[in-house]
Amino acid sequence: MRLDSHFVEILVLDFGSQYTQLIARRLREYGVYTEIVPYFEKIDSIKAKNPKGIILSGGPASVYEDGAYKPDSAVFDLGVPVLGICYGMQYIAHFFGGSVVRAEAQEFGKAVLEILNLEESLTFSEFSHKSMPQALEALVDLWEDSVRESHDFLKANDIVALKPEVSELLKASENTLVATDDETFLGFLGVEHNRIEMLFVHPKFFKRGVGIALLREAFVRSLRQHNNIVVDCNVGNARGLRFYKRLGFREIGVSQKDSKGRDFPIMHLEVSSEELESNLRSHNILFHNVKQDSIVWMSHADKVESLPSGFVELAKSGNTHYCAIADFKRRVYALQFHPEVVHSEYGGEILKNFAVGICGADTSWNMRNFAESEILKLREKVLGEICENRADSISILETPRTYLRPYHLDDLEALQKILDEKTMYAWGHAFSKQECKDWIEQQLQRYQKYGFGLWAVVDKASGEIIGNAGLNYESITLVGEVQDEVDSSAESKECEILELGYIINHRFWGQGLGLEVASVCAKYAFNKLGVKELYCLVKEDNKPSLKLAKKLGMRIVGKNLKHYKGQELAHFVLKTNELVLCTNGENFNQKCEARVESNMERFAKDSKPMQENSKIFDEKTSEAVQGEAAAGFFSKCGLQGKSQGSLLNINDRSDFSQLPHLSQKAEFSKVLCAVSGGVDSSVVATLLYRAIGENLIPVFVDTGLLRKGEREAVEAMFRENLKVPLIVADARELFLGRLKGVTDPEKKRKIIGESFIEVFEAEAKKHNTKGEIKFLAQGTLYPDVIESVSVKGPSKTIKSHHNVGGLPEWMKFELIEPLRELFKDEVRALGRELGMPESMLMRHPFPGPGLAIRIMGEVNAADLELLKEADSIFIEELHKWGLYDSVWQAFCVLLNVRSVGVMGDNRTYDNTICVRAVEAMDGMTASFSHLPHAFLESVSNRIINEVAGINRVVYDITSKPPGTIEWE
Ligand code: XMP
Repeated sequence: MRLDSHFVEILVLDFGSQYTQLIARRLREYGVYTEIVPYFEKIDSIKAKNPKGIILSGGPASVYEDGAYKPDSAVFDLGVPVLGICYGMQYIAHFFGGSVVRAEAQEFGKAVLEILNLEESLTFSEFSHKSMPQALEALVDLWEDSVRESHDFLKANDIVALKPEVSELLKASENTLVATDDETFLGFLGVEHNRIEMLFVHPKFFKRGVGIALLREAFVRSLRQHNNIVVDCNVGNARGLRFYKRLGFREIGVSQKDSKGRDFPIMHLEVSSEELESNLRSHNILFHNVKQDSIVWMSHADKVESLPSGFVELAKSGNTHYCAIADFKRRVYALQFHPEVVHSEYGGEILKNFAVGICGADTSWNMRNFAESEILKLREKVLGEICENRADSISILETPRTYLRPYHLDDLEALQKILDEKTMYAWGHAFSKQECKDWIEQQLQRYQKYGFGLWAVVDKASGEIIGNAGLNYESITLVGEVQDEVDSSAESKECEILELGYIINHRFWGQGLGLEVASVCAKYAFNKLGVKELYCLVKEDNKPSLKLAKKLGMRIVGKNLKHYKGQELAHFVLKTNELVLCTNGENFNQKCEARVESNMERFAKDSKPMQENSKIFDEKTSEAVQGEAAAGFFSKCGLQGKSQGSLLNINDRSDFSQLPHLSQKAEFSKVLCAVSGGVDSSVVATLLYRAIGENLIPVFVDTGLLRKGEREAVEAMFRENLKVPLIVADARELFLGRLKGVTDPEKKRKIIGESFIEVFEAEAKKHNTKGEIKFLAQGTLYPDVIESVSVKGPSKTIKSHHNVGGLPEWMKFELIEPLRELFKDEVRALGRELGMPESMLMRHPFPGPGLAIRIMGEVNAADLELLKEADSIFIEELHKWGLYDSVWQAFCVLLNVRSVGVMGDNRTYDNTICVRAVEAMDGMTASFSHLPHAFLESVSNRIINEVAGINRVVYDITSKPPGTIEWE
């Protein structure tokens, strides 16, 4: 899983192809987190992202043109595999010394992929002269053909002389493996213990993976039992030597004569079994599970004419010889076609084979992980919370009105403030300032030592610390006297308890905050830590706390005497074995409790009484530490951790002091977010609300130019489904007033834009009386981000900043763009993960100026009503006919055209409604939707019958270009 924003599995360098985004989308569909950067990305920035593989995209340029796009050549030295696609392939061929030329015929469209590697279609059998005497001759012939082609140091009569020797060898061999394809022998390999005795492939099938396949098969069958594998190869057999060396074989010696004493120098080579296995695995898996003769999508004018040295051809297609190439040693692969385009039948497989099979990329990218990590990041950024990737992390708890977060050392002063005389008196007894400080220090020491149970209670609304809460181990002397469970013998009993304690500053008493805080701590203790029982110590005369403990389901089980200032104060000991009360909305993040729980686990082990009766801990506590993940994390921090099953043991607790300490607490601040009712801004608002609660200020402006029922639908969605308190600014009159008499479309747009900012600004001001707004949230998507730093260079206007262009200076806050890594369909998936309704997520786009640009000419209240009614009928019908999701955008336009009609016996002279529906990818181009005539007929009938004032309906059959989607 991704832990921070720099962690990228595959990085795509963009050379300007129209398909580049698809590469990232395809890979992300497989759960591989992929990002795109321009081809000129600095090598240090690439290194910082630490990708497991790099893809060079296609692009319109030619590698031999002046100023052709070139990446930093150090991308080939990063030690990770590289895949070039189209231009990327040509660049690779050119860079490594091959040649690229303009193809005689541009190849554009579908082509058939002929995979040269035959591995997938081979079968293997063990040759034995006894059972297959007829095969001997064929194998000897194969040997002859093979050496004629590859052993040019042998003369014809040498070959003839050697033939009987080979025949005898084969006859005697017990371990010869034969590769067959449709009855034809393609090659054979003989082994003796850890020695490869012979490996020959028919020349027609050289470079087609037969040798590798034979070796892989022999490895699995027998060679892998040995630590090292050895082979002897004629020094003159350059092809053979290259083959072995590519697989990691190293020279260990040379003999001047062969085993029969002839003058053929022999090189002795060796490889470790481990290395051979890994090299065999990375070979030729680019086309794993890809069918022979599948369709691929070509779009190129240039082609590779000759291969650089070290490269082999993996596939060809009709016009293109070098359709897929690779240098296995350098781990550089290249494809002439576009695997990212859907027309490439197995394109997704090929990209996945590269990312997962060759690069070893992680496939756990999904919207659940994204949502979790994004919420933590946002929380840290805005509230200054600690994030998951730090050892000091313990759970952050949330209640409807507060957050409980771990104390930072620099919170001491704030904590001291809340433990003032009045508060402490009511809690136990008055503490002097010094005592207060001592107490805090003692608590912090415990926290440092055990890593759990002392939280700062932060008011969500103000960001102020208003109290603390904790789960502490206490050693008490329980004097049973009150209730059934306690020994009636009233003998005192020493015991260790897990105590729930909380303090709320007196200024915040009487609002039920104590109950919220105590119940979330109890929930954490029972549900997360898996404790079996929980205690409270309440001073005898502290009636409110006693009442609260009882609300938590606690019963008095005895008394304990505490010593303060030389006097003894009697405390009731209350206990509960279950979670009785839970307020709504509290939750705790489930991450990174490694330190907390491992320490608690240790505590349990170190603490004899508890280990013996095992009351407090059950199995779950230790199970909850995810051994592997935690071990990885600790080793990253340079700590010695050992995983035992699912439990992590940290050898030495003092090592924690080595870890980087918490950063300074960031300012507690608020985030302003304009909500339009569209998918992106609604998802942003929901995500932010989950992260920072009421520190989000989501503002929805009702311009009066919205669709029928739009405001109500958005309000209901935020209220009922998302529980986000939406602020609605009703500005209907203002907008209508300002649009009065205005007919020019551009003027309308300008008025609407300016008025929107004005209303938004006024609303923001109300929530910024102390300057607490520090951020502005926007629904910028990944395509906008990529486009704004496209290959044309960073000088191109950055789109994400476009939208804030019209804001007044004081509102130019730091931008928060939580969707900037996501594609549109991923935003929808994220919305689903956050529990947003489908009707919201699948909405069509709606323009900012709203219905004003769908009423030709002046906008007035009466026309708005007409349009809203007609439009709602059209949309309703689309849903009814199941057509809504199949069109990209659909709406009605009220034309300033009247025409004559007849309705019943009357002649009418009324308005015309235009119905518009388009199909598009992104709205840049569009074609009108071919909606069924019966459907259009029913829409027309309903509009004319149900909307008084409309007597004619027309359907817009214009595409874009030349038209636009909207009418104004
Ligand atoms: P056109 O009419 O330009 O529309 O083909 C393309 C897409 O953009 C939307 N659109 C707008 N969106 N403010 C917006 O936020 C605008 O002023 C605006 N004008 C058009 C339109 O609905 C379509 O989806």
